Amino acid sequence: MNTTLSSFDAYAEQYQKSIANPEDFWSNIAADFKWRKKWDKVLEWDFHKAEVKWFVGGKLNITENCIDRHLPQRANQTAIIWEPNDPKDEAKHITYKELHEQVSKVGNMLRAQGVKKGDRVCIYMPMIPELAYAVLACARIGAVHSVVFAGFSAGSIADRIQDSGCSMVITSDGSFRGEKKLDLKSIVDEALEKCPTVKKAIVLQKLKINVKMKAGRDLWWHEEIAKASADCPPEEMDAEDMLFILYTSGSTGKPKGMVHTCGGYMVYINYTFKTAFQYRDGQVYWCTADLGWITGHSYILYGPLSAGGTTVIFEGIPSWPDMGRFWQAIERHKVNIFYTAPTAIRSLEKAPLSFVEKYDLSSLEVLGTVGEPINEEAWHWYNKNIGKEKCPIIDTWWQTETGGFMISPIANVTKLKPAHATLPLPGVQPAVMDENGKELTTNGVEGRLTIKFPWPSMARTIYGDHKRFFETYFSTFPGKYFTGDGCKRDEEGYYRITGRVDDIIIVSGHNMGTAEVESAIDEHHEVCETAVVGYPHDIKGQGIYAFVILYHPPKDEDKLRSEIKETVSKIIGPIAKPDKIQFVSGLPKTRSGKIMRRILRKVAEGDTSNLGDTTTLLDPAVVDEIKAGAL
Ligand code: WT7
Repeated sequence: MNTTLSSFDAYAEQYQKSIANPEDFWSNIAADFKWRKKWDKVLEWDFHKAEVKWFVGGKLNITENCIDRHLPQRANQTAIIWEPNDPKDEAKHITYKELHEQVSKVGNMLRAQGVKKGDRVCIYMPMIPELAYAVLACARIGAVHSVVFAGFSAGSIADRIQDSGCSMVITSDGSFRGEKKLDLKSIVDEALEKCPTVKKAIVLQKLKINVKMKAGRDLWWHEEIAKASADCPPEEMDAEDMLFILYTSGSTGKPKGMVHTCGGYMVYINYTFKTAFQYRDGQVYWCTADLGWITGHSYILYGPLSAGGTTVIFEGIPSWPDMGRFWQAIERHKVNIFYTAPTAIRSLEKAPLSFVEKYDLSSLEVLGTVGEPINEEAWHWYNKNIGKEKCPIIDTWWQTETGGFMISPIANVTKLKPAHATLPLPGVQPAVMDENGKELTTNGVEGRLTIKFPWPSMARTIYGDHKRFFETYFSTFPGKYFTGDGCKRDEEGYYRITGRVDDIIIVSGHNMGTAEVESAIDEHHEVCETAVVGYPHDIKGQGIYAFVILYHPPKDEDKLRSEIKETVSKIIGPIAKPDKIQFVSGLPKTRSGKIMRRILRKVAEGDTSNLGDTTTLLDPAVVDEIKAGAL
């Protein structure tokens, strides 16, 4: 289907069609792909059971659609541009033909180690081409990839491996991060002590540092790949077979392994990529996310590659060697579409403008943001200084669970409103609910954001825990998918996401469960109890504020604070370190023992003038102490 939309009316018409007859709409789009066998039925669903199936009975392999399908016309077109950590090193251009060869070899390397359809493979690697090859190789042979962001701790890796019973890990000896070197293999080694299901670990030599290789388990990538042939027939997958698992934080308990399946995911990610960005053949597209997050899965790899596009993979960080790193790479690769996070924009906005002005950004045509609400100031800075007021900003609202964009402007079609994700994409049917579970059907309303009809790339379950899937997403508003976000719908029908309404905070665009951070802090031997809330943070969007009860009065508060931060960093990873730690003698609890987070949020926000009703607290005096000690 032609995804070029020439006008707003064309969007409105496409939207209407998608709602009036979703099955026709999506089967028209799906018809563009290579199916080994066509589906028997487009859709089966029951939100009361949290069950959804798309393209039932269809058979395909997503890598055949992302790679092989393009070879007749695009063998020598660049599929991936790899920009290294150090700008002094050379970038790599990987053509579709080379990508085909590399993915096939890695696929055979995995097959040679006994990996087969349905097996789970954990991937813990830096942002290098081999990471992309590994992910796609899993998809090619029907193994389920579970990518773990290479900033997570040994404990977090072990939890994820155990939860999904991975039989293999693919990693590297280490990675660069700006001027730092990280020793990834030793982190994996520590994790694997607790992971008996892992039979093999494949280790890529990246830093060429000394690592321990465990006999019988660990294999060098370069040795194994040398034995692998470049002929790797793709596994035939059912549309509803698992493609990958990706973990995301929950408001309670351990991270949830969101399960995405092959057929619907492919169709939806391809459609939304082409539609929202209005991607045209030949454009260079750069999404700055890490492949360890859903943004990387959907909109670095599967979206652009399924569209036959050219996608940039960036190994480095925006601030090294200096704050011009992004802009330098845009100039170098003549990037046309640039997609990043508000937190990155806010941190770069603080640097002198000379870092931007040094580079030629005239190749840019479309800008995007993702991960959290973008504040108006950052929006205007991005628009003025990066887009030079000629590039639309595509503020894409979506989630790990949704797989792809849900509410988003369409480049050069949708009239923009700063800080608004604007309108639902075709196929997406949002409903705003009030607290009593009633749908607010008019415009000019505020409430909780739900989706009332399935879309092809929605997560199908939580790995190993369908009950939790149902309870988390489908029980709050029966018959609807609950996003966990609050939103406003203005008089024009435009959506503005106001943020999470559950105990999840978004720190630098990353989803973090307060419960998870609390239990990590509690691991410190001096800590008795903790409550964590989010508070507005200049750069990160939300910062982590921890209220901590200790067993003994601290001798050295600052030392203890850094120890606690280290503990969290060790247990979850550096991204979960609390920004502020306030020691308190008690927490505001109701008589039934529930922490009143509303009060803590107010204190953390620095707004203690009106804390609301505190009479139901067990010990109202504790609030005065907390207020007095606020940081
Ligand atoms: C949560 C999902 C989607 C990939 C990255 C994050 C927030 C995401 C926006 C946006 C306002 C946004 C929501 C959502 N969020 N994009 N454009 N405007 N909020 O994926 O880690 O699953 O987090 O991120 O609160 O629920 P995630």
